[in-house]
Amino acid sequence: MNLRQELPSDRESVRDIHLRAFGDHGSAVADLVDTLRGTITPTDGLSLVAEIDRQIVGHVMFTRSLLDAPRRLVEVQVLSPLAVRPEHHKRGIGSALVRHGLRILAERPVPLVFLEGDPGYYSRFGFTCGDDQGFRKPSLRIPDGAFQALRFPKYEPWMTGTLVYAEPFWRHDAVGLRDPGA
Ligand SMILES: CC(C)(COP(=O)(O)OP(=O)(O)OC[C@H]1O[C@@H](n2cnc3c(N)ncnc32)[C@H](O)[C@@H]1OP(=O)(O)O)[C@@H](O)C(=O)NCCC(=O)NCCS
Repeated sequence: MNLRQELPSDRESVRDIHLRAFGDHGSAVADLVDTLRGTITPTDGLSLVAEIDRQIVGHVMFTRSLLDAPRRLVEVQVLSPLAVRPEHHKRGIGSALVRHGLRILAERPVPLVFLEGDPGYYSRFGFTCGDDQGFRKPSLRIPDGAFQALRFPKYEPWMTGTLVYAEPFWRHDAVGLRDPGA
C-alpha cells in the first residue's frame, strides 16, 4: 500500500470512495470533500490517499477550523472525512491513513486535531473525549462521546473553548446528526 498526497487526477476516485463508503450520505460527503479541498494549501490541511496496485482505496482529509479560546482564536485541524472502499475494510488502511496524517501534522504548528466519530475506532490513535479536555463541541447535535480531540506538542494549557467549524461544514450541513422527526 502506498500513502501519498491527493493529486488533481485523483478527484473522481476520491468521490467514488465516499459514495461507496457512506451509503445514503455518500454524495453529501463527496460534495463536502470537493469544497474542503479548496481550503487546503501546501502548509495548511492535508488530503491523503491510500493506493493499492494503482487503485485509490482510501482517503482522509484534515482541514483548518478555529478554537474560540479565551486568549485568542486558535487555528486547529479537523479530521473529516475518512473513508475506505468497502471491499478493503479491516485491512489497516483507515488506520494507516490517519497515522500518516497525524505524523505530518505533528511537524507543523498544529496544537490540536478534532473529529466527530466513534471512540471505539479513534481511541487507537490517542483521541479522547473533547469535553473532558476542556473543549466544547460546535453543535448540540453531536453525541457527547463522538466529539474527540488529540493534543499535539504545540498545545498549550490556555487553549480551551469551543470548536468553531470552518464554513464548508455548515454550508454542507455536515455537522452532528439531524433528527428529521424533531
Ligand atoms: C471507518 C473506516 C474508515 C475504517 O477503515 P478500515 O480501513 O476498515 O479501518 P482499519 O482496518 O484501520 O481498522 C479496522 C478496525 O476498526 C474497526 N472499526 C471500523 N469502523 C468502526 C467504527 N465505526 N467503530 C468502531 N470500530 C470500527 C473495525 O471493526 C476493525 O477492528 P479490529 O481492528 O479490531 O478488527 C471504514 O470502515 C469506512 O470507510 N467506513 C465508512 C465511512 C465511515 O464511517 N468513516 C468514518 C466516519 S467518522
